[in-house]
Amino acid sequence: MKILVTGGAGYIGSHTVLQLIAAGHQVVVVDDFSNAKASVAGRLEELSGTSIPIHSFDVADLDKLNGLFDAEDFDAVVHFAGYKAVGESVANPLDYYGNNIGATISLLQAMDRHEVRHLVFSSSATVYGADPIVPMTEGLPTSATNPYGWTKVMIEQVLRDLVVAQPDNRIALLRYFNPVGAHPSGQIGEDPSAVPNNLMPFVAQVAVGRRDKLSVFGDDYDTVDGTGVRDYIHVEDLAAGHVAALHWIAEHDRTISTWNLGSGVGTSVLQLVNAFEKASGVKIPYEIAPRRDGDIAASVADPSLAHRELGWQTEKTVDDMCADTWRWQQANPQGYP
Ligand code: UD1
Repeated sequence: MKILVTGGAGYIGSHTVLQLIAAGHQVVVVDDFSNAKASVAGRLEELSGTSIPIHSFDVADLDKLNGLFDAEDFDAVVHFAGYKAVGESVANPLDYYGNNIGATISLLQAMDRHEVRHLVFSSSATVYGADPIVPMTEGLPTSATNPYGWTKVMIEQVLRDLVVAQPDNRIALLRYFNPVGAHPSGQIGEDPSAVPNNLMPFVAQVAVGRRDKLSVFGDDYDTVDGTGVRDYIHVEDLAAGHVAALHWIAEHDRTISTWNLGSGVGTSVLQLVNAFEKASGVKIPYEIAPRRDGDIAASVADPSLAHRELGWQTEKTVDDMCADTWRWQQANPQGYP
């Protein structure tokens, strides 16, 4: 298939681009590089051994999108492009609604005009809201606690409405749990542009000496050791989930499908810190800090639907995630050049 990947220069997008190419597909990327570095392109080409057309524009730009769809005969789209920082979304809600929803609407209009019917969308476990039943199953009601989360809830709704009007669409909503890790080469990984909001990149930056210590946000949750529990998923397993979903929707007649992509295993903050210390051989200094606004005690997937339907499941352990993150961080202490 010829596949358009929006946000293909970003963290999850770049890993997925490599796996789509490895699966024999042709990939074209659109990315505005608002949260990605240009040097990703060369590394993707080196690792894949092929040239990858990368168009640098905002997916919300319908004229440019239509031009690209006119020029290329796409079979499917994998849509990653979007803002993803929770705190920033609270401070600048209009940017988040405008960008995430605006880009998706433009993309859907271009797809409709060019009769491209297959779409895989980056959703998030954040759509399970403030007080989810753990482990989370796809049938739970959706809600959110911040504008970023609401953009995911709303886009899911847009897509459900769309398939009612256009039942020839084949859409996958992939609800990611906590993606971490890096490509085993150490050449592709997560490169936060400012102070990392997420746990794993923060720990990795402490280990490499860029930050003094980790703040553990709360140790009085009702969990194994009082710290927050999450379902960490290796970005390589996550990328494989996209390939599986893309193949599945091409072969089945269901208009819209929702799959959790997680491991089903919960890991606490302190357990992750321990695993990282083991993988890196570096002590991670930390202090207990107050709970972070909007955090929940535990978020763990029930990934059985994806296993049953897609034949997909995670292969990599938390130890693998730490080892690969550490390899990437050591090879690129300041991120991409
Ligand atoms: C966060 C977002 C979520 C988003 C996801 C991916 C919030 C409330 N949720 O998920 O909407 O989809 O990132 O970008 O921001 N922690 C620390 N110290 C740190 C950082 C994190 O103790 O410096 C703890 C958190 O309290 C949490 C766990 O580590 O218990 C994981 O945090 P994080 O990596 O930010 O992911 P989520 O909060 O699950």
